[in-house]
Amino acid sequence: MSDRRFLRFPDGFIWGTATSAYQIEGAWNEDGKGPSIWDTFCHEHPEKIYHGHNGDVAADHYHRWEEDVQIMAELGLKAYRFSISWPRVLPEGTGRVNPAGLAFYDRLVDALLARGIEPVVTLYHWDLPQPLQDRGGWPHRDIVQYFAEYASVVAKRLGDRVNWWITHNEPFVMALLGYFFGDFAPGIQDFPAALQAVHHLLLSHGHAVEAIRAAAGRPVRVGITLNLSPVHPATDSEADRLAAQRMDGILNRMFLDPIFFGRYPEDMQALLGSLIPEVSPEDARYLTTPMDFLGVNYYSRAVARHDPSFPIVELAQVQPEGSEYSQMWEIYPPGMYELLMRVWKDYRPPVILVTENGIPVPDGVDLDGRVRDERRIRYLRDHIAQVHRALTDGAPVQGYFVWSLLDNFEWAHGYRMRFGLVYVDYDTQKRYIKDSGRWYAGVIRENGVWVEE
Ligand code: FCB
Repeated sequence: MSDRRFLRFPDGFIWGTATSAYQIEGAWNEDGKGPSIWDTFCHEHPEKIYHGHNGDVAADHYHRWEEDVQIMAELGLKAYRFSISWPRVLPEGTGRVNPAGLAFYDRLVDALLARGIEPVVTLYHWDLPQPLQDRGGWPHRDIVQYFAEYASVVAKRLGDRVNWWITHNEPFVMALLGYFFGDFAPGIQDFPAALQAVHHLLLSHGHAVEAIRAAAGRPVRVGITLNLSPVHPATDSEADRLAAQRMDGILNRMFLDPIFFGRYPEDMQALLGSLIPEVSPEDARYLTTPMDFLGVNYYSRAVARHDPSFPIVELAQVQPEGSEYSQMWEIYPPGMYELLMRVWKDYRPPVILVTENGIPVPDGVDLDGRVRDERRIRYLRDHIAQVHRALTDGAPVQGYFVWSLLDNFEWAHGYRMRFGLVYVDYDTQKRYIKDSGRWYAGVIRENGVWVEE
């Protein structure tokens, strides 16, 4: 017989779920919305997306948002993290505001607040207005001002009610997958451009923090969300240990160091030489604009080995044998604890929110209308337990958000990956709360999880 133990979270702990605009909204060309780079990428490069899927309709949230808010209320969510579609608000990216776009988010925020659900707004989750890509996109410095302008427009409208603001979601993915690997929009393969994109994303974050505060005109909490992973060497060899350090540099420290210390890491400067973005004293000031919290997205650890065939960084990622895997990643719950403690010790953010954590499971609806996604429950429970461990050891974690509320468009994987607590039948757009959704509702109600000893 195994014993069960209850891990209680502090009062007021923020239990939420997360989504992003392009992945759920659909209505890609309705009510005055302009095209984003993801619209263009999916339409022009269907071969880069599983089965040529796209976000034209997605989970049709733009039309079904009231039902979705109702589901959130049923789950008892304390908070809901969603992103604003920049081209829905500013169809050209700058200048002309589309009132219908702002009105959509305005209604959504009011509906959430009416049900006691705290809105957590992400300004940028990868759907850059296409006209701004045509002007050079993230590698071009002008983007910094455009982003600050957009941040200000949104914060002026929603800043009286929205308390939590996230400037960017996962700048690593935007810069590296969008401008170096080219697997994500805008599909460019240019390493120097990708590094410039990193710099402008981070710099625009700092400018936006100021813009949001000024436009809201009252104290609001502003932060950024990074995708971070502990990096472990594949073996004990010196070569693999150094490869893991380089990967940690590229993935984690290239983003954390500038926003906390105002400079890129020394070993990355040595490795990348003149490709590393230059940081003027003014840039350094903006990069380090004080934040109220750091958002951390954690899905898995990374395991690296030395591989001279990969240019410059000379490393490859390894799938360790004997581990458990989901359709996308290794399942490694202790990485959550390791990461939170490391971020806390090395960077001392005032507050940490786990802004994403979740697992794809090939779910289906059973005859009785239930979705029996035991595997997701196990994944979430094991990761929440690790968050609790980090809290107990002093990490200032104030919230946890499951990715995702709904099954949705998982970028290059299309609709094949189902991350939701709520199943979406894409033929009918009918929603079914999965077993994991009901389980999570219990976690929220009891403010903690039961674990087996
Ligand atoms: C993160 C993204 C999110 C979703 C999850 C699975 O990298 O922020 O949009 O795709 O992964």
